[in-house]
Amino acid sequence: MSAPRKDVAALDAAEAAAELERLAREIAHHDRLYHTLDAPEISDANYDALRRRNSEIEARFPKLVRADSPSRRVGGAPETGFAKVRHLVPMLSLDNAFGTEEFAEFCIRARRFLGLAKDAPLACVGEPKIDGLSINLTYEDGRFVRGATRGDGTEGEDVTANLRTIKSVPTRLHGHAPARIEIRGEVFMTKADFLAMNEAQAKADQRLFANPRNAAAGSLRQLDPAITASRPLSLFAYAMGEASERVADTHWHYLQRLGDWGFSVNPLSKQLPDEAAAAAFQQTMAAERSGLKYDIDGVVYKIDDLGLQRRLGFVGRAPRWAIAWKFPAEQATTVLQGIHIQVGRTGALTPVAELEPVNVGGVLVARATLHNEDEIARKDIRIGDTVVIQRAGDVIPQVVSVVTERRPAGAEPYRVPEICPVCGSHAVRPPGEAVRRCTGGLICAAQRVERLIHFVSRPAFDIDGLGEKTIREFYDEGWLQGPADLFTLPSREAEIAAREGWGAVSAHNLSRAIAARRTIPLARFIYALGIRRIGEANARLLARHYGTFANWRTQMLAATTVGSEERQALGSILGIGPAIAEELADFSDEARNVEALDELARELTIEDVAPAQTADSELAGKTIVFTGALETMTRPEAKARAEALGAKVTDSVSKKTDFVVLGADAGSKARRAAELGVRTLTETEWRELAGLD
Ligand code: IVH
Repeated sequence: MSAPRKDVAALDAAEAAAELERLAREIAHHDRLYHTLDAPEISDANYDALRRRNSEIEARFPKLVRADSPSRRVGGAPETGFAKVRHLVPMLSLDNAFGTEEFAEFCIRARRFLGLAKDAPLACVGEPKIDGLSINLTYEDGRFVRGATRGDGTEGEDVTANLRTIKSVPTRLHGHAPARIEIRGEVFMTKADFLAMNEAQAKADQRLFANPRNAAAGSLRQLDPAITASRPLSLFAYAMGEASERVADTHWHYLQRLGDWGFSVNPLSKQLPDEAAAAAFQQTMAAERSGLKYDIDGVVYKIDDLGLQRRLGFVGRAPRWAIAWKFPAEQATTVLQGIHIQVGRTGALTPVAELEPVNVGGVLVARATLHNEDEIARKDIRIGDTVVIQRAGDVIPQVVSVVTERRPAGAEPYRVPEICPVCGSHAVRPPGEAVRRCTGGLICAAQRVERLIHFVSRPAFDIDGLGEKTIREFYDEGWLQGPADLFTLPSREAEIAAREGWGAVSAHNLSRAIAARRTIPLARFIYALGIRRIGEANARLLARHYGTFANWRTQMLAATTVGSEERQALGSILGIGPAIAEELADFSDEARNVEALDELARELTIEDVAPAQTADSELAGKTIVFTGALETMTRPEAKARAEALGAKVTDSVSKKTDFVVLGADAGSKARRAAELGVRTLTETEWRELAGLD
């Protein structure tokens, strides 16, 4: 993440395009981890840095903005499972202040906007800012009718059934309530409940949550409300959306009304007559923070007078009448006892710090992320060191720095293992990338499930009736180790039929769907292997280029040798390039991948790409010379294509030459062809002859 990247100002257009492509991919990956899986891998600050870099590059190269650019999407767009709900009044976010000065600036801006005197007191309400997830509750005639997550601020997910299971969400409002009202608040989990839940998850061999906020989000976004009901969630109400009648004149009064209706309002909320009182409150809350039952990352200050709030309105996505004054991250010092390498589901190796357990802001921390090897080298982190760690509330604890004065004698710089600790395959780090990855894609236990899911996905083997859930189920059953095992499933048809939710018909259909895919086009097969950077388009390029499985396999093995002709040819395929060639070589270089590949191929009939048939081709048996620069393909690619069609490619023009293909700036060879009366072809004519258009 922290590998130094070139300055945006120094990028040329090609680099910018490549960088935008990488950022789109990376940001989408982190969005999914965060919003869909509730399991982020990077800190919010690092995520923001990625988005910022994306915007900066786009600002410099507006023509390169991609259709799938992260800047065209809002982070939390709902994905699947829940119906979408449009909020009656959009749910906004808050601007942040870091320190007294920025808070003072907020007050100055508000006074200036309202035309108040410089020293006019601004009465506010301070509310601890809990790190949970905000939700919107709609009440009609006093009854709870709908609850939704914030989503992208305009549209969220309908989680009504789940919210009904939370005790602090009243199903009916007490006393008089407007005919229609939207109430906003924060759903959260206490630190103790979070830790207990993670312990239970660990025992059940289930995924752990990174922090209380993700645990709360993950618990609320369950398709089965019974699961939500079993999770210890609470709600504090703190804001309003739509209201069909006026309910209060001040925010403080509004909070009282919330209490009267039956909501929990954070009892630490406080009315503050002026800026000095707010600053004092900030101090008090900072001091009390670690003793609170829940994580807070700051205090939200809201101008109390609702009339003033209305006048102040909004700027962008945040109100002018409120601000979140954030605390600095909580830190502590402890000893780094070891470094453990975690292998992610995509094969990424992440170093994790094993710490002497220490209390950081009320949470016992025993592990922290070290991000990647550059980060370890940059901070010169060594086993045995005393380190400063921090929890920023919304972030997995991280190692900030080393207290070098306390370094034990003999502590050695850390060296990252070059083999995967899970499967023993080579772990390689492509040049220019921060992350080292296990190359044992087909065999590594850490990556198996993910690979299987990819293998059966729509653009790959597209096996009907075999989705992510079933793959996980069958994997847990021990039926699937690698992709080849999929083809043994029909022999378990009776067992599958007997499973809950299956039955004879579905099990039989599954067997048929699997049998139908024993014949597969080469491009789909290559794509299904899940080799890094080999998406559908690249898989098609490879399939077209190599034509048959056998040829592709041989050439890939030969291409593992750096500098070999095959490696060069691979890297010269237009659209592939040296970096992707290296990924393919890394894959083929791992003998066990090739074993798994062969095992799989034995189960299958892999269809050749219908080539412009060699024998039929006008080029078969002909001698060709290429000269000058071709526009649509590289020279090695043209050569490979000609050879695939049965032609011979030579360097010099002679009487035996049948065709000379003229690229741009063709020189002496063009003249020689003219002298000898050899037929010349333009690039377009060559493409036609080669069956490329
Ligand atoms: S008021 C227009 N009050 O902070 C005002 N938000 O950074 C909208 N939050 O999405 C929010 N405690 O999840 C408000 N007392 C509080 C809050 C609070 C936590 C969260 C909320 C919101 C985010 C904005």
